[in-house]
Amino acid sequence: MIPSFYVTTPIYYVNDVPHIGHAYTTVAADVLARYKRMRGYEVFFLTGSDEHGQKVEKAALKNQQTPLELADRVVKRFQLLWEKLGISHTDFIRTTQERHKAGVTHIFNQLLEKGDIYLGEYEDWYCTPCETFWTETQAVDGMCPDCNRPVEKLKEESYFFKMSAYGEKLLAYIDEHPEFIQPKSKRNEIISFVKEGLRDLSISRTSFSWGIPVPGNPRHVIYVWFDALTNYISALGYPEEGGAFGRFWPADVHLIGKDILRFHSVYWPTFLLAAGLPLPKKVFAHGWWTVEGQKMSKSLQNVVEPNKLIDTYGVDVVRYFLLREVPFGLDGDFSHSSLINRINSDLANDLGNLLSRSTAMLVKYFDGEIQAPGALSDLDQQFCDKATAMVAQVDRHMDDLAFSKALQAIWDVISAGNKYIDDTAPWQMAKDPAQVEQLKTVMYCLLEAQRLIHLTLSPFMPTTTTTALAALGCDAPSDQSVVSWGGLVAGTRIGKAPALFPRIETT
Ligand code: MSP
Repeated sequence: MIPSFYVTTPIYYVNDVPHIGHAYTTVAADVLARYKRMRGYEVFFLTGSDEHGQKVEKAALKNQQTPLELADRVVKRFQLLWEKLGISHTDFIRTTQERHKAGVTHIFNQLLEKGDIYLGEYEDWYCTPCETFWTETQAVDGMCPDCNRPVEKLKEESYFFKMSAYGEKLLAYIDEHPEFIQPKSKRNEIISFVKEGLRDLSISRTSFSWGIPVPGNPRHVIYVWFDALTNYISALGYPEEGGAFGRFWPADVHLIGKDILRFHSVYWPTFLLAAGLPLPKKVFAHGWWTVEGQKMSKSLQNVVEPNKLIDTYGVDVVRYFLLREVPFGLDGDFSHSSLINRINSDLANDLGNLLSRSTAMLVKYFDGEIQAPGALSDLDQQFCDKATAMVAQVDRHMDDLAFSKALQAIWDVISAGNKYIDDTAPWQMAKDPAQVEQLKTVMYCLLEAQRLIHLTLSPFMPTTTTTALAALGCDAPSDQSVVSWGGLVAGTRIGKAPALFPRIETT
């Protein structure tokens, strides 16, 4: 049976237009989804929009729109951006859709009947931008400990989820599944948090109305995080047992930013434990981007718009940069100069140059006809081994979500390729008719290694690699592409490859 793989991104709030932070998680999820598809998995890749809650209601009011009008408008911006970024999601869920509301209502009812949700009264400090309640001790000086904005005292009748009953079970799960929360440093933070003891969680609001009504008590709307987290199963058709839910749940990985880890690794798993559902296999929290050394914010007017970046540099450059520049899981800084550096050195000099150099030589020495290789010299063999070993290395790094290491492993072969040309000096061989067999072999190894390089790289840079593979006389990668040495067919005729990336001149 074909193995399955389920990857998700957070669902994005529609009170804000998409920025580089949103693009980051979505590109990472897309690369993973494409990679797994190429490796023969049946992949369900989910993204979507988080459309309920006070934040969206307030933003709509400010715009003199209904929340749904605002959502309809902003959601298009996300969807257009995903199209432009080449995102290959299977489904896009909006929390205002009936299928989602049905799933949320079902799980809420189930926990209510079970006694894990009960009606009580709440009084605490509330941060509206974060949609989070804080205790007196957490909200130091009346400020939200997450975003440092003022909190307000809120007292209301509220439904509560008995989160306190699930702390031990959650700790046991975390303990038995070392892979569950990543990176490791974050895992330790969550363990300490849970060990301090979990409080019951307020999961309804009466102070505004933009949300899914509590079944049987529509004065309350369901807390936006209870609503939002359920998207990961409602999109699969939950509570319908068969179909996509049966096939893909539990998720293989929820990709998220570090700021929303607690929701995903404490709240969400305890909801699932209460509902008797399996827990996701992995929650991976990536770091945050600053911009030219500063926090990205509307007030600083330094928000990096992915659309503009794509228009200026091209889609694959943006995809590459996001995953290459910063190890996944750490914070990083975006700057135009580092982006241009990456283009000029990694993409134009290394990757692009290797392809144009080698295809130009094939045209020159063999009229563009790929030659069958003869016996491999030590140098040929070393290079071929390096390229073959890279495929397995990338596989391991992708399992760890170490995207930058995967790219580094590919670039090691690219550098080795450029060095292989210098070491074998094909232009010398070409002068000596006695060395024609060696020359054929060198040319074959060089081009075949690049077939492996571009196949392995294709989830990261789908457009460029399709062009490069076509230039090598190969098809675009298919599902279940077999990435092993020897796929180039002798006798195929190719031309000099186009420059994949023009250098960006800096003054
Ligand atoms: N709606 C919630 C998620 C619900 S998931 C069930 C939400 N939405 S959000 O639009 O505010 O943020 C979505 C993601 O963007 C988060 O994972 C967050 O970490 C990420 N980022 C926001 N700013 C970011 C950076 N500056 N850098 C990297 N990622 C950032 O939270």
